[in-house]
Amino acid sequence: MNNMTSYNPFSLEGKRILVTGASSGIGRATAIECSRMGATVILTARNEQRLQETLSQMTEPAKHQIVVADLGTEDGLLSVVNAVSEPLNGVVHSAGFTIPKPFQFVTAKDMDAIMDVNYKAPALLTQKLLKGKKISKGASIVFISSISGVWVSYIAGSLYSGSKGAVNGLVKGMAIELAAKQIRVNCVNPGMIETAILENGVITEEQLQEDAKRYPLGRYGKPEEVAHAVIYLLSDAASWVTGSNLLIDGGYTLL
Ligand SMILES: NC(=O)c1ccc[n+]([C@@H]2O[C@H](COP(=O)([O-])OP(=O)(O)OC[C@H]3O[C@@H](n4cnc5c(N)ncnc54)[C@H](OP(=O)(O)O)[C@@H]3O)[C@@H](O)[C@H]2O)c1
Repeated sequence: MNNMTSYNPFSLEGKRILVTGASSGIGRATAIECSRMGATVILTARNEQRLQETLSQMTEPAKHQIVVADLGTEDGLLSVVNAVSEPLNGVVHSAGFTIPKPFQFVTAKDMDAIMDVNYKAPALLTQKLLKGKKISKGASIVFISSISGVWVSYIAGSLYSGSKGAVNGLVKGMAIELAAKQIRVNCVNPGMIETAILENGVITEEQLQEDAKRYPLGRYGKPEEVAHAVIYLLSDAASWVTGSNLLIDGGYTLL
């Protein structure tokens, strides 16, 4: 008899996935959803307590691993690489932050700070993992970029947009070079997603509610709605997809 229930081209069963930024928001949802799809996950971020909270919500918590690290530092990058004991089948780069500041007041120090975490950390972490032979042939690398810096931007968004525009470019260059190893490199580009990143005190709750109405689907996105797209890119269902940027924005950039 045809066993339809076990057919799932999006399954992550047997795959080892590293998720950065796993203590909050999109990274947390991705770690949880990956575990529900059968993956074994390495979760990393700076805040151990919040990583433990993520772990407690995952399927089979005991099979996953936590690594506390600041990805803005060389030591932090090395501790993540050293914690990977078997080659990975997937890497999700979700760690990131924003510095909302009018362009006129932006400093070189701000630029370094945002590029260190949003651009250099995922690039260098991937490079170190590759050099250490810790990424398998056929693996999938997914960057969480943004609509900001690729399709749109906003007042006081030049630092953040610059870092995300750079990520989109990086993905394309890496995808070409890593194709020889059958490693796929893609990014997802979310619009506004309800996470802690919105709680930076610059935008009031009222302004957020007003802004959400500008989305054709009438609301901001949820972290799981990004995680599900990431799962597609990590899975064998996306085995011929590389160098792409997947827009997830409730129709925002249509208008
Ligand atoms: N929310 C949105 O509207 C939206 C839209 C488009 C794209 N994005 C992108 O999606 C990604 C995830 O954002 P989010 O909304 O989920 O934000 P979030 O809830 O604030 O989570 C950010 C994550 O990054 C980690 N992180 C920040 N700096 C780090 C560092 N120096 N070293 C290690 N980890 C660090 C944080 O962990 P610790 O504090 O524990 O270190 C946290 O787990 C980011 O790249 C963001 O730019 C978000």
